[in-house]
Amino acid sequence: MQDEPEDDSRSRVVLTRSLPDGPSRRLARYVVAQVWREPDPPPDAWLRESCVGAAGLLATPADRVGEDLLLACPTLRVVSNLAVGTDNVDVSALTRRGVPLGNTPGVLTAATADLAFALVLAASRRLVEARDAVLDGSWRTWDPGFMLGLELSGATIGILGAGRIGTAVARRALAFDMHVLAWSRSGRPLEGTGVERVEMVGMDRLLRESDVVSVHVALDASTVHLVGAEQLASMKPTAVLVNTARGPVVDQRALLDALVSGRIAAAGLDVVEHEPIDPGDPLVHLPNCIVLPHIGSATVATRAAMAELAVDNLLAGVAGERLPSCVNPEVYGD
Ligand code: DGY
Repeated sequence: MQDEPEDDSRSRVVLTRSLPDGPSRRLARYVVAQVWREPDPPPDAWLRESCVGAAGLLATPADRVGEDLLLACPTLRVVSNLAVGTDNVDVSALTRRGVPLGNTPGVLTAATADLAFALVLAASRRLVEARDAVLDGSWRTWDPGFMLGLELSGATIGILGAGRIGTAVARRALAFDMHVLAWSRSGRPLEGTGVERVEMVGMDRLLRESDVVSVHVALDASTVHLVGAEQLASMKPTAVLVNTARGPVVDQRALLDALVSGRIAAAGLDVVEHEPIDPGDPLVHLPNCIVLPHIGSATVATRAAMAELAVDNLLAGVAGERLPSCVNPEVYGD
């Protein structure tokens, strides 16, 4: 069921998910919120109809915000995405129409880096396979050759993408005594203290030399299938691939082949090409692949902080003020 907008002189905004109590109450002081409360994302038709006449939209990575929506809803003064990634939004269409787009960088860095490192550990030490062995009775005795995995201490991790989350993962890897290589399109070194020992390298070398490759690039036209069959083939057969960025950055069919053929050892994925993945998808059933349901930022504290920032962006946009976190500052003539 969705909330019916009240007859009110305040501006109306549309939310495709309900928010925690704090940011929700703050929002209600300034605007009337029409909220989609069903478990599945709202259908395009609901989104379009609700946004007609609305001043703002708060969307999530599960919603597609395209030019068609903007054309149908010219009153929208702001789109606030409850995520740092904005690949679900046609950013150029918003910019062309002067509509600012907000996102939630920074507040989710630690939670997402933690989850990435949890996958590094789980895939390297075969945690899910080992638990399955307990459940199915194939654990018979202590055996020196049973469930051997990759030792992280002294191993090399390659970080693809040197932004906030990649840098936070590098810090965690250094604390585990790993060698850290990193690649970014710009080639600029990682920023901040504690990452001086990270070596910036070309992508070929990173793939060739890393025992673990962790993906942290944003999704755009240039990063679709950045890791494909050729890149997987250049990795070590003992290597582990982790993706907590966006599914389409890795060619999922090529990854399935590489995992089945033993071309690489294991993968840990928090994101897949089409979410939610079909539970019958062979990738989900491979013993050497862990698939999680896009929970990188899913801690109570982080989701609350994301909601606060998304509400800040939404309210600023509705009021015609500059968004605290704006993806397309060109709309302000910058
Ligand atoms: C983001 O913010 O882009 C994340 O993927 C959501 O957890």
